[in-house]
Amino acid sequence: MEKPYAPACDRNRDSILAVLLGHFADRREVLEIGSGTGQHAVHFAAALPGLAWQCSDREANLPGIRSWLDEAALPNTPPPIALDVNGAWPARRYDAVFSANTLHIMGWAEVERMFARLPDVLARDAKLVVYGPFNVGGRFTSESNAAFDAQLRSKAPHQGLRDVEAVDALARSAGLVLVEDRAMPANNRCLAWRTVAG
Ligand SMILES: C[S@@+](CC[C@H](N)C(=O)[O-])C[C@H]1O[C@@H](n2cnc3c(N)ncnc32)[C@H](O)[C@@H]1O
Repeated sequence: MEKPYAPACDRNRDSILAVLLGHFADRREVLEIGSGTGQHAVHFAAALPGLAWQCSDREANLPGIRSWLDEAALPNTPPPIALDVNGAWPARRYDAVFSANTLHIMGWAEVERMFARLPDVLARDAKLVVYGPFNVGGRFTSESNAAFDAQLRSKAPHQGLRDVEAVDALARSAGLVLVEDRAMPANNRCLAWRTVAG
């Protein structure tokens, strides 16, 4: 099959990788939620060879992810697994979880569900990194984010930019503490948490 391609991944992958090199250098196994095309996975897994990068997404996206992983043939990318946050989760733990550009696509109930399930897959000492566009203090951080939010909601009313504070509240309920909130290019953010027990 022709590999799916998201141009944004080429634009944002190196700035995200810079954050991941800081947070994931000592991690062994990461679960990526909503891998999309699989482009991020091959870029990040190649740069972090000591980290097993477990892609996941809803079933329909798995063939595309597989085509990126197969072509790259990296030793640290196991086959992608089906994971819809509303459904069954892996019955095992990871010392890292990553997700990019997913929280504004999921409905808020799905975002809540995702954070509620995280304690079941996070190791005792684990990190979570989430990338995407967020509001801060209940406000858009740019005109372009406001326009993006309006565009999302007009097509799918359950979608839309989330507040950093609301997401952090879910993370705290899941036993995580925010360790970094980094402003990223194009008015995005990278949020990093670690388990309180870790
Ligand atoms: C905008 S894409 C981002 C893909 C990729 N992470 C990236 O940054 O290019 C949003 C992704 O979230 C996934 N997604 C949406 N709802 C989901 C759910 N309920 N459970 C798991 N993944 C979901 C979609 O399948 C899609 O891959």
